[in-house]
Amino acid sequence: MEIEKILNEISEIENEAKKMIKEITDEKGMEEWRIKFLGRKGKINSITSKLPQIPQELRPEIGKRINSLKKTLINLYNESIKKIKKEEKFENLSFPGKRPKIGTLHPLTLIIREMTDIFFKMGFGIVTGPEIENDYYNFEALNTPEYHPAKSFWDTFYLNEKEKILLRTHTSPVQIRVMERMKPPFKIIAVGRCYRRDALDASHSPVFHQMEGLMVGKDIRFPHLKGVLTYFLHQLFGSEIKIKFSPSYFPFTEPSAEVSISCIICNGKGCSTCGYTGYIEILGCGMVHPQVFRNVGYDPEKVTGFAFGMGVERIAMLKFKIDDIRYFYQNDIRFLNQFG
Ligand code: PHE
Repeated sequence: MEIEKILNEISEIENEAKKMIKEITDEKGMEEWRIKFLGRKGKINSITSKLPQIPQELRPEIGKRINSLKKTLINLYNESIKKIKKEEKFENLSFPGKRPKIGTLHPLTLIIREMTDIFFKMGFGIVTGPEIENDYYNFEALNTPEYHPAKSFWDTFYLNEKEKILLRTHTSPVQIRVMERMKPPFKIIAVGRCYRRDALDASHSPVFHQMEGLMVGKDIRFPHLKGVLTYFLHQLFGSEIKIKFSPSYFPFTEPSAEVSISCIICNGKGCSTCGYTGYIEILGCGMVHPQVFRNVGYDPEKVTGFAFGMGVERIAMLKFKIDDIRYFYQNDIRFLNQFG
């Protein structure tokens, strides 16, 4: 009697467990099921604890049955949980994904965009030129012959010394390339990488960027140059800055000038950035030299023009208050993430 009861109980447990497991759809349900049947106080253990109540000689047989049921339930559990996990994983595909990290624009890209936008507003077009140049475009056409002392300022890397193929030292050769192709009047800017044989330190880099400007037409005069650059610098740094034009020298402009702005770090009071002068030199400019016009086949009696060139890193450093040029090229994301 006792035996029949226990055998009945075993098959009831099996039926109940099989019936229940079919309805379970998630891991939480599976855990409840496991506790109910296979847990420490579960049905398998409770029926096992009844073994001593049955006659000794029948215990092995009943024990075997209980064990086999336990195995069956463990297998059932493993199968079901595998299926459920797979389904949950599949379901997870519809969850919102992790957002991929999107990089930021490089500070030099940002400043170039800002600078070009100001010139676009004044109707300038944008052009590019090769970084690999020859002596003619980089020096000679710009009225800087071989023996010229100014040439040593622009010492560079030669790719082929015999043919004088070099890495351009400034964006000014683009002036020549544009004038060879275009008829005045026009106004353009050119941006790009330049190279010089400078050792890398906080304010020098053998690779850097320049922005060049050139406007040529009838009756273009110094006040036009002054107006364009004043508008540009006020737009970029704010109309409260002071702008100073001082006489300077470039072989390809005459007269030439150097433009300084009141130091934006100390507001002109004097600090280490401006060398305690209150002013920071920011670009070179001048009226295009008649010889440069002759070199490209223009008649300097009929057309005049102005040109300017500035270092992009310099401007970015002032604008973003960066005190070391090397940050631009180190690709340190702690630096880069602060922009854009
Ligand atoms: N090319 C000059 C430089 O690299 C800058 C400049 C450009 C000066 C155009 C005058 C006119 O220093």
